Amino acid sequence: MSADQPATQRLQEVAAKLSVISRMNSYDPYELFEWPDSLPTTDYWMAPELMTCYGTPIWDELTEEQRLTLSQWESVNFFSLNVHLIRELIGEVADRIYETRFPGLSDFFHDFISEENKHMWFFATFCLRYGGKVYPSGKMFAAASADENVLRDVMVFGRILIAEELSDAYNLRMSDDTRLPALVQQINLVHHRDESRHIAFGRQMMRTLCERAAAATGEDGLRMAGDYLARYTSVCLQSFYNPTMYADAGIEGGRRLRVRLLEDPARMQAHRDLVSRTTAFLERLGLIQADAAAR
Ligand SMILES: [Fe+2]
Ligand SMILES: [Fe+2]
Repeated sequence: MSADQPATQRLQEVAAKLSVISRMNSYDPYELFEWPDSLPTTDYWMAPELMTCYGTPIWDELTEEQRLTLSQWESVNFFSLNVHLIRELIGEVADRIYETRFPGLSDFFHDFISEENKHMWFFATFCLRYGGKVYPSGKMFAAASADENVLRDVMVFGRILIAEELSDAYNLRMSDDTRLPALVQQINLVHHRDESRHIAFGRQMMRTLCERAAAATGEDGLRMAGDYLARYTSVCLQSFYNPTMYADAGIEGGRRLRVRLLEDPARMQAHRDLVSRTTAFLERLGLIQADAAAR
């Protein structure tokens, strides 16, 4: 290590501290949750304000019963998205777990993978029990590709951070929303607690990686990685508008509905709000332009 030694040292300190907290707060997911045979269909399972039709004319056209049913499938879709995001990120982190580019981080990576494995289990269990399926993952997003390892690392850990911060924006708002079944609140809360550590690590990791990338590849490299991350953010946001989810909720024309919603100014604003903290952070790192990501 050379120029970035202080940043690397800081990253190792942060990771070591987070590992201590992680091990102190470790839990057994198989014991933690109680899974009722069914959840009340007279409740929202997703906060209405976080649903994909909210704020648009389509929302006004839906009956209360349709909104409730849709909220249940939106919840299954949100948790399914988490399953796929976690599957991907576990693979990427496992690939790097004893990589010499990341000295002193292996213990944290073990904790991270262990926690994500728990998350994937409780999200998938919810989907299978109350939706009868995990929705298949939607459009595949191109794997990070760049000649330099450091740029691929920026893209991979950038993706992880974007996915975690977006998911956390939902988790945080639903962790104590008493309109939702207790189990739904609890899943959101447990995930939020673990993710607050992953996000703290992810931000420090990105600061370090971007310093290294800027030194190795200059602004062009960072911009290329930033474009990739902006596209990834859009794909993540769009994956909430799953046509099959609308069909499952008994709403016809899911594909057309998805297109209409994605063009609605209220939804564009909702997207900007959901990712505003993340895009501001990526902008400070010189990766992204604040408006580029939320389309
Ligand atoms: Fe997670
Ligand atoms: Fe995470």
